[in-house]
Amino acid sequence: MTQTNQDRLRDLAERERLAEAGGGADRIAKQHQSGKLTARERIDLLLDPGSFVELDKFVTHRCTDFGMQEQKILGDGVVTGYGTIGGRKVYLYSQDFTVFGGSLSSAHASKICKIMDLALRSGVPMIGLNDSGGARIQEGVESLGGYAEIFWRNTQASGVIPQISVILGPSAGGAVYSPAITDFIFMVESNSYMFVTGPDVIKTVTHEEVTKEALGGAETHFEKSGVAQFVRPDERSCLHTVRQLMAYLPLNNLDEAPFKNTQDPIDRPCSRISKVMPDSPNQPYDVREIIADVVDDGDFLEVAGGFAANIVVGFARLAGKSVGIVGNQPAFLAGCLDINASLKGARFVRFCDAFNIPIVSFVDVPGFLPGTSQEYGGIIKHGAKLLYAYAEATVPKLTVITRKAYGGAYCVMASKHIRADFNFAYPTAEIAVMGPEGAINILYRKEIGAAEKEGRLADERNRLADLYRSTFANPYKAAELGYIDEVIAPEETRRLLIQGLKMLEGKRERGPSRKHGNIPL
Ligand code: HXC
Repeated sequence: MTQTNQDRLRDLAERERLAEAGGGADRIAKQHQSGKLTARERIDLLLDPGSFVELDKFVTHRCTDFGMQEQKILGDGVVTGYGTIGGRKVYLYSQDFTVFGGSLSSAHASKICKIMDLALRSGVPMIGLNDSGGARIQEGVESLGGYAEIFWRNTQASGVIPQISVILGPSAGGAVYSPAITDFIFMVESNSYMFVTGPDVIKTVTHEEVTKEALGGAETHFEKSGVAQFVRPDERSCLHTVRQLMAYLPLNNLDEAPFKNTQDPIDRPCSRISKVMPDSPNQPYDVREIIADVVDDGDFLEVAGGFAANIVVGFARLAGKSVGIVGNQPAFLAGCLDINASLKGARFVRFCDAFNIPIVSFVDVPGFLPGTSQEYGGIIKHGAKLLYAYAEATVPKLTVITRKAYGGAYCVMASKHIRADFNFAYPTAEIAVMGPEGAINILYRKEIGAAEKEGRLADERNRLADLYRSTFANPYKAAELGYIDEVIAPEETRRLLIQGLKMLEGKRERGPSRKHGNIPL
């Protein structure tokens, strides 16, 4: 019997209904019972309403082993396509756990690769919503090949388009390496976990017993490993934060970051900073209070806030334009740089540099953290990463030394010598080879020894420390040499940073031609 056009439309509608049903009502109910949303519900929360356009809705796997030819589900466990966030384009995929546990077949991988290719070709960010049992066991090496194709594309796209991974279920085995290559990983407090080898394998090999939450849950990766940069209590708030992050980022490495209008006056005095900073140089304060006083409307999106709390990084805006903020945090480990802080800072600085986002650094660092665990752990090579990242960055770099800038850490933290553009210091800044306590031990060993014998050690130490402080522990020596462009009152910080950014708008800097540098990994 000949089909009418109406019949054909009905057939299309039925196929679409089937594809949208995924693994069916029972598996969707199970997904909901376990506290998870479906792949399509997640897309609805992430994208602007009505903006999603799906591709490859009718793709099925091609496996014939293990009776798989009898089990074909349209879409094959991943929903792919494009849409908008805040009116700006994104490509995305969302794995559907209700279809073969979201596991990755070669067809599933090809769908993801297709949109990755489109995203890279057209300079549009890529977001992956991950909820998958990993390689489709029935497909064997074909599935592994599919993963490797994705990893290769992740690497090609790195530094060209922002790539974001959201982990909303399992992400295990080699599958973790796609998120790991992307720029930011989001997790939710329950139901999301990442590990290379799971609890059972660990028990067999090392006899360690660990739950999957303790091994690779959100808290573990936010606080211990530093693998996840954002953790939110539930999927809704997690996807909302992805939207917030996207609002700071350009579409690609040749694009400008988006502008957001603000009523916050450009020349608003930063009146809180002087109150936040204690009179004593040894008292802590929270650098986030300084950041909030300087940036537009006090809005600061902190990145990796659970890891290496001695350095604070994140996105904010100055006069409507995105900036990356890096701040030593005196409230934790006195703001010392250690291995984890160096890794966190370096990765963030490199992201900003790749995507044309100027970097503003607030410096209050007594030095690198001393100790055998740091030295044995390779603080030399890890600290060098932060140094390298700042030195290679060609985006506008503005630095504010609020208090301490001692030793190698002075050089590392966007100093003039590694080509920061504008370097400011508050009158409270102390810029020297080391702090007074350590310096007087070396400079005045004899005087200190004599004072100890005469029972006037404390007075003598205070006198010598004051002498050292008045000679070196201030910003004026550095200002005399032009290493500091201007010693400024804290109230002036916002106005001067915004002016500086404006002056640097046309900044053009190119390094020597080379294949790539060799960052000390
Ligand atoms: C095929 C899979 C699957 C997989 C799950 N399913 N994982 N099918 N390949 N990898 C199917 C299940 O058979 C089940 O089908 C459905 O998905 C839901 O799974 P459940 O086990 O019922 O769900 P749950 O109890 O929530 O457990 C989820 C899970 C578990 C922890 C992810 O399914 C699991 O351990 N899966 C295997 C994980 C794994 O070892 N993957 C390989 C990792 S190595 P039915 O029909 O019963 O509903 C890897 C290498 C990548 O991925 C290398 C890249 C280079």
